[in-house]
Amino acid sequence: MTTPKQTSHPATQHAFLTLHEIIQKARQKLNHDHWDYIVGGTETETTLRRNRAALDALAFRPRVLRDVSHVSGETTFLGRKLRLPIILAPVGSLELFAPEAGAAAARAAGEFGVSHMLSSVCEPGIEAVQRAAPDALRLFQLYVHGDPAWVDEIAARAEAAGNAAFCLTVDTAHYSRRERDLAKRNIRRHTVPGREHQPRLTWKDVDRLKSKLKVPLILKGIGTAEDAALAVEHGVDMVYVSNHGGRQLDHGLGSMDVLPEVVKAVNKRATVIVDGGINRGSDIVKAIAAGADMVGIGRMQCFGLAADGSAGLVRTLELLEAEVNICLGLLGVNSLKELDGSYLRATTALE
Ligand code: FNR
Repeated sequence: MTTPKQTSHPATQHAFLTLHEIIQKARQKLNHDHWDYIVGGTETETTLRRNRAALDALAFRPRVLRDVSHVSGETTFLGRKLRLPIILAPVGSLELFAPEAGAAAARAAGEFGVSHMLSSVCEPGIEAVQRAAPDALRLFQLYVHGDPAWVDEIAARAEAAGNAAFCLTVDTAHYSRRERDLAKRNIRRHTVPGREHQPRLTWKDVDRLKSKLKVPLILKGIGTAEDAALAVEHGVDMVYVSNHGGRQLDHGLGSMDVLPEVVKAVNKRATVIVDGGINRGSDIVKAIAAGADMVGIGRMQCFGLAADGSAGLVRTLELLEAEVNICLGLLGVNSLKELDGSYLRATTALE
């Protein structure tokens, strides 16, 4: 098995031995409001629970007596070699609880060797993140809160700053009611419930944006085979299966329950990304075996940053890599490319 590369954070190199310890440290450091902002979902939090239930309902079918001495979770994405098939998912208002926010996350991504997607409602903005992590594989995510000229201007800024892809989040036509936040009565700028979000956004806007962009277009928040097929027909380069970490529509399916129909509908005509509940190396392996090309990491990224800033996030990625490598070895494969549905079996959800 290959040894994970050492990174330059001696102080934290061995401070956290497990991902659970990172979550515990984040819990200690975050105040109650910020903890709830991160972990919460919408209304009854049923979609949020189903993200985990769908992952837990998948069991592995391991193969043995194969040479697994060269295990690696490496992949290629947007022309770059990455150590893991990870996008640090866009997280808004990260600056509330993480020093340097998006800049720290982008730096960790670059240092470790995964990709980072900056949220348009995260500070500092596009140019500051570029300065902080010029060499990282950076992507940009937009919520549409303006007219076409406003969208074009942001897209041009994102491209000029070296973002390798542009993402529209499309599961936020209306902002949801996150009751943990509502209960606090101190609503933040980005989380005003009931505020008009992007209710007039349609496929016409996707066509217009696609015709302007020089970089690949990602649609984040696809939840059906029908919309995945439409996305491909509209020239979208990457279909991102997501229910926003259970923070938007309640009573939806878990992302891993949606993934198979999307993979089938896309039929290799676009890159498929999935997120929702992915907190462990084994979750990453399951998503890839089920047909995803890349996974998004939302809350686990927040925990790493809250625990120890950029270094805490690098450590999170190191531990995820160790878990991925062990999982691959125990499944009897050396690389992600060898994975397919034969390594998985649906079992009863542990809900
Ligand atoms: C998010 N998410 C999100 N998505 C997006 O497109 N733009 C955004 O600004 C945000 N903001 C945001 C804030 C916080 C605190 C969380 C937890 C999530 C959704 C995010 O990108 C991703 O889809 C989910 O977080 C994935 O689920 P897990 O990994 O958190 O379970």
